[in-house]
Amino acid sequence: MSRLDKVLTVDEMKACARRRVPKQFFDYADSGSWTESTYRANRADFEKILLRQRIARSLEDRSLATAIAGQDVAMPVALSPTGLTGMQCADGEIKAARAAASAGVPFTLSTMSICSIEDVAANSSRPFWFQLYVMRDRKFIERLIDRAKAAKCPVLVLTMDLQILGQRHKDIRNGLSAPPKFTPRFLFEIARKPQWAFEMLGTKRRSFGNIVGHVDNAGDLASLSAWTANQFDLTLNWKDVAWIKNRFGGPVIVKGVLDPEDAKLALAHGADGIIVSNHGGRQLDGARSSISALPAIVEAVGDKTEVYVDGGVASGQDVLKAIALGAKAAFIGRAFLWGLGAGGEAGVARVLDILRRELDVTMALCGERDIRKVGPHNLDLGGTWPRIGSMRETTPLAAADIRTR
Ligand code: GLV
Repeated sequence: MSRLDKVLTVDEMKACARRRVPKQFFDYADSGSWTESTYRANRADFEKILLRQRIARSLEDRSLATAIAGQDVAMPVALSPTGLTGMQCADGEIKAARAAASAGVPFTLSTMSICSIEDVAANSSRPFWFQLYVMRDRKFIERLIDRAKAAKCPVLVLTMDLQILGQRHKDIRNGLSAPPKFTPRFLFEIARKPQWAFEMLGTKRRSFGNIVGHVDNAGDLASLSAWTANQFDLTLNWKDVAWIKNRFGGPVIVKGVLDPEDAKLALAHGADGIIVSNHGGRQLDGARSSISALPAIVEAVGDKTEVYVDGGVASGQDVLKAIALGAKAAFIGRAFLWGLGAGGEAGVARVLDILRRELDVTMALCGERDIRKVGPHNLDLGGTWPRIGSMRETTPLAAADIRTR
């Protein structure tokens, strides 16, 4: 049995990543903003949702296959865009894209990735999605969109909840930077994590690959917070969706929607899909969890567009709960980053395999054979869960809160 085969859960993968990834990069992924209350709520609210067990139904010929954004996928899971992925392990974006391609699910490359769009396109077999942050330098953004088009990215994910950065205390305390600064503390860290350092020495990709060499006056790119503060466009608004769509010429999915009114606005301005997200609890600390925001957004726009969710997805059971509440797919961020940190491409493959197996058996135990038939009827509505529209306290979930679509 290989080291990774012994890892049975996403949480065990996290523990494994913690042992192998330098603290500043492990913490970067693990952080929420300020008190991290929304980060914690993302996981905690999944746990409050109860599944409805059904028995004595044929469980033969089960299928997790579905389609998202017009693309056939092996299961309703996709990899979220995450910054600095290539710092969890060398060439991390390429490794994650390959693992996603083998598992038959989409990989989304972040603007703030270490490997560039061209690097990932040249080293992976399946088209990947590209995530866009809009910066002040419009010419650069236009070129970035063109580069995603040239790399044949079929979908653009437009993140609209991060024009200004929620403070993550750990990053400040750790002096996060890419490439890392060779301080005595960092040298001590890599002495304890030699595999990470050895692999990192073997790659040229150690800074923001989509930006370095593509933008004039890049400024202090070593610091994500400094870069964001100087370069991200504070004027970004709904009207921008039109020119971005026009330039890209393919589906544009808006990420960062947590409010039904914003979901309607996104749709009215041309969004081709919506990712319900609070940026993994990394932006507005005190906002509700993504999963508790999902039902009201599905109710507002779910009959007109595909709605996806990210934030706190750490098991196949979580994926099933998201689908039952009306999401077409659940996106994973930290879960795949921990796989990368723990074991590179094989680690991500293992995480996707864990989720697939958990999802398959969970679906069966709910009495379903086809993921496309999973819906609110698979939830135990007599359970406890934060009521839609209420604050985050736990109150009984009324059947009426979750409409059957
Ligand atoms: C970037 O997307 C971040 O949350 O750090």
